[in-house]
Amino acid sequence: KKKIILDCDPGMDDSMAIIMACKSDALEVKAITAVNGNYRVDVTSKNALKVLELIGRTDIPVGKGMPEPMVRKCPKDPFTHGKDGQAENNLPDPVTPLSDKNAVELIIDTVKANPGEIYILCTGPMSNVAMAMKKAPEIKEMIAGIYAISGAFGLNRYAYTNATGDTPQSEWNVYVDPEAADIVYNSGVKLVALGLDVATHFDVNLTDEDIRMLEESDKPEAKFFLQAVHFVNERGFEAYCAVIDCMAVGYAIDATLVKTISGHVGIETKSDLTLGMTVLDRRHHFVWESLPVVEIGESADYERFLKLLMKLVLA
Ligand code: BDR
Ligand code: CA
Repeated sequence: KKKIILDCDPGMDDSMAIIMACKSDALEVKAITAVNGNYRVDVTSKNALKVLELIGRTDIPVGKGMPEPMVRKCPKDPFTHGKDGQAENNLPDPVTPLSDKNAVELIIDTVKANPGEIYILCTGPMSNVAMAMKKAPEIKEMIAGIYAISGAFGLNRYAYTNATGDTPQSEWNVYVDPEAADIVYNSGVKLVALGLDVATHFDVNLTDEDIRMLEESDKPEAKFFLQAVHFVNERGFEAYCAVIDCMAVGYAIDATLVKTISGHVGIETKSDLTLGMTVLDRRHHFVWESLPVVEIGESADYERFLKLLMKLVLA
């Protein structure tokens, strides 16, 4: 089993990622750490607990994360995940307590207790992971890899931005905390960035048969998923919006789901116009080799990804 920490900002799609990860036999979820992003960390940490209670996995510790991004204030998410941050599933308030350790401590301790074995899945801004690396730089050599829903690289005709209203060029998770992304991208840890190029794809849509199977299931997580799809559809979005972050979990389970290319990437941390932009140096000559090399999702097998997601939700 691959040991993972899921660092997330639930978020309906982060919640679906939690469900998918916890139900996969291929993964062992050692900790969930919550961060500011889709909502403030008070809400996202509670939402993580709510999902774990929904699927009966309260054995997994949840650490509450950084109160703010590394150097900025957290912007407000223009794309609402609903009043509860979970597509108005309105799950009951959790009775399970948060871990005594905050997210940064939980990341450091979990990595140190499993040197060379932990993969960190980042489905929110990278504030917690960057702070963990800053506080305990020695963990960088002990992290097996990072799979992140991060960036937009302009590799296909799909979205370049979803920080709608804030910048015409940035993906939300990087936009919220560009300085954190800069630290993590430059950390030397093997990073796979699954950006909007692969994670927001119109081919990720449910068939009538999928909907029927979810409706017939008595699993609470199937109902959660249906409500999330209904929620995004009602607002004029396709089903993929409800499962963006699941791509990182899919990749952790089966890396053949996503084809990647490697390239030098820089993070914009200064310009208002392009704050949080992930700049891929695509030149053949004169490439800025000082920029870190990152694996970037270029295309994915959406049919197999959806099959895996459906199988795990219904299991
Ligand atoms: C990210 O935006 C958030 O709304 C989603 O949870 C996802 O992690 C994609 O840019
Ligand atoms: Ca997210």
